[in-house]
Amino acid sequence: MGTVTCDRRSFLLDGRRRLLISGEVHYARSLPEEWPGLLDRCRACGLDAVASYVFWNFHEPERGVYDFSGRRDLGCFLQLCAERGLKVILRLGPYCCAEWNYGGFPSYLRDEPGIEIRTWNAPYIERAERYLRRLAEVVRPWLYSNGGPVILVQIENEYNNVAARYGEAGKRYLAWMAQLPRALDLTVPVLMCEGAAPGAIAALNGFSLDDRRIAEFRAAHPGLPLSWTECWTGWYNTWGYRHHYRSARNLGFHLLRFLGHGGSFWNYYMWHGGTNFGRNSMYLGTTAYSFDAPLDEGGEPTAKAFYLAGLHEILHRWEPVLLAGEPRVEVDTAECRRVVWSGEAGRLELELELKKQRGALRGNGHEIWVSDHECECAAPCWCDGGGGRDWEFAREPRPAERRDAVFSTEVCEQLTLTRDRSDYCWYAAEAEVTTPGPQLLTLEAAADLVYVYWDGELLGSTPLPLAENRGPTGEGAMTVGGGSSLERTEGQYGVQFAFSAAAGRHRLEIWCVSLGRCKGDWMISGPMNTECKGLWRPVRLNGRALGPWRQYPGLCGPGAWSRSPAAGPQWLRTTIPVAPDVLAAAIDFRLAATGLGKGFLRWNGFELGRHWLLPGHGYGADESWQDAALDGLTLGPDGEPTQAYYRIPPTLVAAENRLEIFEEQQADPRRIRLEFRVGKTSAEPAAKQGDE
Ligand code: GAL
Repeated sequence: MGTVTCDRRSFLLDGRRRLLISGEVHYARSLPEEWPGLLDRCRACGLDAVASYVFWNFHEPERGVYDFSGRRDLGCFLQLCAERGLKVILRLGPYCCAEWNYGGFPSYLRDEPGIEIRTWNAPYIERAERYLRRLAEVVRPWLYSNGGPVILVQIENEYNNVAARYGEAGKRYLAWMAQLPRALDLTVPVLMCEGAAPGAIAALNGFSLDDRRIAEFRAAHPGLPLSWTECWTGWYNTWGYRHHYRSARNLGFHLLRFLGHGGSFWNYYMWHGGTNFGRNSMYLGTTAYSFDAPLDEGGEPTAKAFYLAGLHEILHRWEPVLLAGEPRVEVDTAECRRVVWSGEAGRLELELELKKQRGALRGNGHEIWVSDHECECAAPCWCDGGGGRDWEFAREPRPAERRDAVFSTEVCEQLTLTRDRSDYCWYAAEAEVTTPGPQLLTLEAAADLVYVYWDGELLGSTPLPLAENRGPTGEGAMTVGGGSSLERTEGQYGVQFAFSAAAGRHRLEIWCVSLGRCKGDWMISGPMNTECKGLWRPVRLNGRALGPWRQYPGLCGPGAWSRSPAAGPQWLRTTIPVAPDVLAAAIDFRLAATGLGKGFLRWNGFELGRHWLLPGHGYGADESWQDAALDGLTLGPDGEPTQAYYRIPPTLVAAENRLEIFEEQQADPRRIRLEFRVGKTSAEPAAKQGDE
């Protein structure tokens, strides 16, 4: 059966050197019926392999309940890859990151007594091994060594980001992880990106790999191929911030530079971003995970895909020259680098203008140029597919109407109540005002977005936008900037509301809404299992702690439907008809969610994801990403909603469609439109000749 080996120059399959051009496609971010088309397009763009994370919480949604069927049918995805001659790099987790809810961890991990995540901790190791053992059964038949497409497995992810926190215990954990695939009889080489333990193949991630990083890598791993496991094609988007884009020519320049360093394996992260359906997004991550990837959210090729497909075609033609020996650096100044490959198969010359970020690769009668020109193709044209026929509205019951209260003296943290099965939790208490006039309500810790109701009226909500990295939520998490203003100290959780009230007893209801779990320690400056949602420190009126509390986790669902809109949290539903000719011609659909506030969308019973029409300003993440402008990162228009459109996979669209919306704020549903796209995007890239 097949063998996968590597040396300093490249990976070798069955002893044959390979240039390995891979693209990340998360099968969890599209539907199984879309996988064949997506993978065809990967192949057509000259990819040799696809990479995907396997998200633990996608496959073990409840403790001990495994699911590898339907949307979770990993075996089916691997078979489709095999049928197309695509190799697979499977990123097994158990920790993934990827802007996926809780970085891929199942939420119930936080309930395991004594657990510490991503370190040498018995309860964690036991759960992780149990899951990986089950996963290994699914993956084993698809390994290259067993005749399948999976040539490499990755274990853990970017441990360097957290290594300092876990010290010696972390090292022991990582070493154990590195040997685990082998122990589970996964007989292909093991990759570990940005933090490898002995026995695994180290690899690098980034927008670009600069000379210093490459030199360090070469010095540390003289016998390993230079592997770029995540070459970022764009960046993800977070609610309240502007869109991220990455220029294709900049990407092209950095790829050529990487080749000049002798790189022979890279993986575009993402090649297809797809959609965070349902509640799969991390905290603050938008529902669309487009990532400005070469295949757009609906899987159609963009200008970037055509550009890279051209590059791949020529690189594959030159593969024997590129891989015959080490590239030789002939000129290396601050301005210019010239690198030459020469051997029996021919001669290639790479010339890079380092400051101008331009370059050319020439030889054997061909040339590839990275110039100042950006590649462009016309933006897809979306057509109006109509709106809802009749709208109906139903209130979501308020605490006073609910019978499912959880009582406590002090506030009870939200995830303990919801187990992350819902974004929502109400907190209700009585508030006694002794001195009429100005009042100050202090929520010492509140996440993520809270709405405060006073005697049934909305008093206010969390100041926006929310920061992506907010500091620790565990014990000692503080809180509010002093004074009586409505300020919130950046990066923390305190919120204050100044208002006026009459003397007497009042009804205080605080509605807490989660925006997804953190993806890694750095978002909360603490271990992931210490993340909190809802309220977890005292709520004070003029300094006095309030209580006892009644908590209402989750939503009740629509009560009685009516024709008149309700105020505040409510359900909306309608039918949207789609004409037969549109159904036949459309290749993709989306909802223009104009008129909506925030909530989630359900289309024919399928959870499309969260919606939020919040306008985007600024970079998001931390502003240090501004440096990424050097790596060709640009921003979308200021002030437009971070996500205005919500994708609907075509296979979910029928002649009559039921759209159901949960809306937290307010909605003018007359403005919601279904839009569709027809036809193929100009010519599909030429299919690569099969080399199997
Ligand atoms: C990397 C991480 C990926 C993804 C990416 C950025 O650091 O390994 O999983 O999160 O960043 O989007």
